[in-house]
Amino acid sequence: MLDEKTIAVIKSTVPVLEVHGTAITTRFYERMFTSHPELLNIFNHANQKQGRQQTALANAVYAAAQHIDQLESILPAVKRIAHKHRSLGIRPEHYPIVGQHLLAAIQEVLGDAATEEILEAWAAAYGVIASVFISVEADMYKESEEQAGGWGDFRPFIVKRKERESEVITSFYLVPQDGGQLAAFEPGQYVSIKLAIPGEANTHIRQYSLSDAPAKPYYRISVKREEAVGDRPAGKVSVFLHQQVEEGDVLMLSAPAGDFTLDQKDDKPVVLLSGGVGLTPMISMLNTLADSGTDRAVTFIHAAQHGDVHAMRGHVEDVVRSNPRFSVYWCYERPTERDRREAAFHKEGFVDLEWLIHTAGNRESSFYFCGPTPFMKKVRDSLLAWGVEDKNIHYEFFGPAGSL
Ligand SMILES: Cc1cc2nc3c(=O)[nH]c(=O)nc-3n(C[C@H](O)[C@H](O)[C@H](O)COP(=O)(O)OP(=O)(O)OC[C@H]3O[C@@H](n4cnc5c(N)ncnc54)[C@H](O)[C@@H]3O)c2cc1C
Ligand code: HEM
Repeated sequence: MLDEKTIAVIKSTVPVLEVHGTAITTRFYERMFTSHPELLNIFNHANQKQGRQQTALANAVYAAAQHIDQLESILPAVKRIAHKHRSLGIRPEHYPIVGQHLLAAIQEVLGDAATEEILEAWAAAYGVIASVFISVEADMYKESEEQAGGWGDFRPFIVKRKERESEVITSFYLVPQDGGQLAAFEPGQYVSIKLAIPGEANTHIRQYSLSDAPAKPYYRISVKREEAVGDRPAGKVSVFLHQQVEEGDVLMLSAPAGDFTLDQKDDKPVVLLSGGVGLTPMISMLNTLADSGTDRAVTFIHAAQHGDVHAMRGHVEDVVRSNPRFSVYWCYERPTERDRREAAFHKEGFVDLEWLIHTAGNRESSFYFCGPTPFMKKVRDSLLAWGVEDKNIHYEFFGPAGSL
């Protein structure tokens, strides 16, 4: 444990580091990738380019430092990150590398302000924070390796079936190449896929939520093709999966991970809200609730741009038809002429508080949602304005977690 003096130094320098947060982490990545180019096989280059990972890592280090004398209070946040780390194959030997380059970057950016005392305090604090992560992750690796059908790093899966769900979303049904058992998972969890794209220097790892209920003879992921728009390049992994990966091909998968999961012991009504491809974990939850024969009321609310890019509509309507306590509502941002002719949607525009109250009905429900960040912000703000308790609000980011 750290002594009081070290804790005082850490707490007094957090605000200074916050000011330089992004400069330090940006420099840290530059240094680290220069001396350890093999780590480019693990990190997401698009997140790097857009500065998203820099912000996430900086925030996490300062949050941890701020709570250095009571790290147990940030354990839920540590666990969420640790799930991601475990799915990426981060191991204890990676931590000293990060520590060394983070310290060097702090020294470089702060210049003379980085006294010996400050650097020593931060080295000690990083050691404490890293050991918490390492220990939480060790438990997660153990659990994931020891469970029936489980494994530690990446396992080859065969694409058994590839199925188009909409103009932009395609599902992949995956079975273990070794013919072995599948590990159980919680609805809402994701897997990491590690892809070697011919001609590319590095492998690319991305997360995809499992989009069907557990206990099927396959894992299913459903991927949106991220097209190039203007000077924004096309998405590497999603486009490769759509265009190049065919039935019979092999994909490397992590074991399921993540703490955004449906609480199946809860007996409150459930409201599942999604925007665009954010529907994947919601479909897993919906199917799980339907398979369980639950008597909870379930409301499925989905926002799409219009009917042509609306995935799994028929499936959701079938599930709702066979479960009298389930209901469904569609919100289209820009309905097509056909959507209008067929009265294919319940609301035009965006989800708002009034419509949420109208559709969800009961603010004592458990709310789960996922979608683009502006959608999630609108949903969360609306739920809080309605008086929904924080403990009943659960959401997932399809990227480095930010704040809403
Ligand atoms: C927990 C979790 C679950 C997820 N579940 C799903 C799911 O079920 N289905 C799904 O489809 N996705 C899901 N995602 C998102 C998925 O992991 C990928 O992020 C997504 O498929 C895009 O990856 P990509 O390789 O195609 O795009 P990338 O190459 O990673 O690019 C991502 C975006 O960044 C932009 N970009 C890239 N380089 C630059 C640059 N230099 N400048 C500016 N912009 C740039 C691209 O145009 C693109 O829009 C999930 C993510 C998480 C974290
Ligand atoms: C105590 C030290 C560390 C902290 C506080 C930390 C924090 C974080 C945070 C906050 C995220 C974003 C999680 C999210 O998606 O919401 C993240 C992701 C990640 N971390 Fe760490 N991390 C640490 C150590 C490491 C180490 C040692 C490695 C390996 C070298 C590593 C590799 C990654 C990778 C590859 C990602 C995914 C980023 C991406 O999108 O490319 N981290 N980490």
